Amino acid sequence: MSKPAYYITTPIYYPSAKLHIGHAYCTTIADTIARYKRLTGYDVFFLTGSDEHGQKIQRTAEAQGITPIEYVDKIVDSFKELWRRLNISNDDFIRTSEPRHHEVVQEIFRRIRDKGDIYKGEYTGLYCTPCESYWTEIQLDENGCCPDCHRPVEKVSEEAYFFKMSKYADAVLKHIEDNPEFLEPKSRRNEMINFIKQGLEDLCVSRTSFNWGIPVPDDEKHVIYVWFDALTNYLTPIGYLDDAEKFAKYWPADLHLVGKEIVRFHTIIWGCILMALGIELPKKVYGHGWLVISGDKMSKSKGNVVDPMLLIDEFSADAIRYFLLREIVLGQDGNFNRDALIQRINADLANDLGNLLHRTLNMINKFQKGSLLEPNEDTVSLKTEALDTVKEYRALMDNLQISDAVKLVWKFITRCNKYIDETAPWKLAKDETQKQALINVLYNLAESLRIIAILISPFMPTTSRRIFEQLKIAQNFDTMQFADAEIFGKLENNHVVGKPEQLFPRIEI
Ligand code: MSP
Repeated sequence: MSKPAYYITTPIYYPSAKLHIGHAYCTTIADTIARYKRLTGYDVFFLTGSDEHGQKIQRTAEAQGITPIEYVDKIVDSFKELWRRLNISNDDFIRTSEPRHHEVVQEIFRRIRDKGDIYKGEYTGLYCTPCESYWTEIQLDENGCCPDCHRPVEKVSEEAYFFKMSKYADAVLKHIEDNPEFLEPKSRRNEMINFIKQGLEDLCVSRTSFNWGIPVPDDEKHVIYVWFDALTNYLTPIGYLDDAEKFAKYWPADLHLVGKEIVRFHTIIWGCILMALGIELPKKVYGHGWLVISGDKMSKSKGNVVDPMLLIDEFSADAIRYFLLREIVLGQDGNFNRDALIQRINADLANDLGNLLHRTLNMINKFQKGSLLEPNEDTVSLKTEALDTVKEYRALMDNLQISDAVKLVWKFITRCNKYIDETAPWKLAKDETQKQALINVLYNLAESLRIIAILISPFMPTTSRRIFEQLKIAQNFDTMQFADAEIFGKLENNHVVGKPEQLFPRIEI
């Protein structure tokens, strides 16, 4: 039987600057969900990419004396390098500058224009001539001038294409109201409902003032403008227009994971575009919160950005992933703080998890020459707690309660450490009559570690693999399934485990 499909996306990132830890947050969550879904038997397609067009990029490239594509190529390489270092398991990386994407966008534009939902009109906005930029009233500075160069703006009109959003507003509103799972969390849903109820204007979808973009078919002085070009990236890699079978398999997307400030584009504009095309809407758009530094959104202009590459160099990808997934409740804003990160590494990773593995393997090596021996049933066991944890974990992960799932696994890790203290295997080892009790305790611990390694594999894939290696079951790592965690007792009698190696060094503050 073929596996059920699961299509998950991150936003495509602007290559205007280096990515910061806030971007890494979004991609880490998506990666964790993708890995979890693969583990539970889905055929996952996980997409990320880059959103490369626009006046800003064109201008920055010109200022550097290079072409826009030369400029973005370098930055996009750095994105790919970051995702590689962070262990992101995306199945494709879409660049909006790629020919495969141009073809899709132009065809979509043509289809919607042919049915009369894209029309030519006049765009009027507040224009800053030196910056060659349009601004809206609210973007202007406190003197009503250009927010970039602070010179006066003037009202200017240019010919442009418009998309009839107004035609689809009621249908999108009804969709949001009728399908509570379409837009989460609930707070964002209410915001969007109120937004649409205030009335939707038609959307300007082309510009003539720059040319770094996808030309409007049959009217090439226009380029297709931002969201129309960007959102359609979700259709390009899954075969829209060129592979009907693949498209039918992955669309509608199961999850568009996006930051809260772009929920509006992903529900309202995207909803209208898809309705105009007669395509189903995605099953879910989830608006996550921001990673903030002392309450402030990270941004280059505020000078408070944290470079994920440096953090990975210093602490390892898994430590960063752990911190982001554990500390920030999905849907809410969360604080990034270096001291808190170090504290989590020392307490949760080096102490709780690291010690559990180290103590367990050490004792198996010391008391049973590295061998697991045949346990019997009638002693105190970790079995029930392990299996309850697995069950609860699944429910939390299915509900996207990722930080709760991480905490749950750590609760079980704490329980295992306490089990060592309670059963005191070093005392059992001294008493010949307690031989079976010792066998049982060590088996239960090894088996619990095997299950823990499976449960943390979506969060910390490298650490999970390293535990498998130390348990000497690495040959099963690539084929493991969630079902392997649902059985307590898979490690075989006489299985020989490895020597303990440190998982996470303690960080001196
Ligand atoms: N290019 C558009 C998205 C188009 S999707 C069809 C864009 N790019 S972005 O690079 O500015 O942002 C990409 C994502 O990063 C957004 O979801 C945004 O919310 C997220 N983040 C940017 N800064 C962030 C934090 N400080 N914290 C969490 N996420 C953040 O928008």
